[in-house]
Amino acid sequence: MTQGLFISFEGGEGAGKSTQVRRLSQRLSALGREVVATREPGGSPGAELIRDLLVNGPAERWSPVTETLLMYASRRDHVERVIVPALERGAVVLSDRFHDSTRAYQGAGGGAAAELIAALETHCLGKVRPDLTLIMDLPVSVGLARAMGRGGAEARFESKGEAFHEKLRQGFADIAAAEPERCRLINANQTPDELEALIWDLVQPALAAVS
Ligand code: TMP
Repeated sequence: MTQGLFISFEGGEGAGKSTQVRRLSQRLSALGREVVATREPGGSPGAELIRDLLVNGPAERWSPVTETLLMYASRRDHVERVIVPALERGAVVLSDRFHDSTRAYQGAGGGAAAELIAALETHCLGKVRPDLTLIMDLPVSVGLARAMGRGGAEARFESKGEAFHEKLRQGFADIAAAEPERCRLINANQTPDELEALIWDLVQPALAAVS
């Protein structure tokens, strides 16, 4: 039976993750693989309801600890109902954000305790972790300008200010340095075509390992 493969896409605002998830999904589907392209917060009906609470409204609507708990409520539902069943079927799961976003945004950016986040990872995720994580890195000013150019919807995190976004950018760099087996830090300041080619080069060995 074909083994499943779990790939997460991470990074700050405006890094172009969604475009690359779409392009990779098309390439993998063309090879005949079942692909489940999903996102966080969200990805299951219940988790999408929680997403609405998280990404809309004023920046101070939730504290970093409350955000962490809401992220994990949505993540647990997503994992139980979408990710685990897909991996058990042998699908390739592409998730636009996963657990590293909580470490970076609520932890490094917001100051939520690393021990709390680690405990939630242990108890809510079990053994479920991405096989490969592509962290798309971009200078904060470039990413925020791109994200704001998309319009005002779902802009709660964008509105948290440059200092917050600098901290979470460093948070992602620290994750990549701490887990080099799983994570690849990608310079996202390239054209979508260049990024697509680079990502394909990184994904092929991971795919070969489970085929
Ligand atoms: P998106 O803009 O990539 O769809 O993500 C929605 C927002 O949610 C984005 O600003 C990052 C934020 N987020 C967190 O703060 N923590 C998390 O764990 C996740 C998954 C997303």
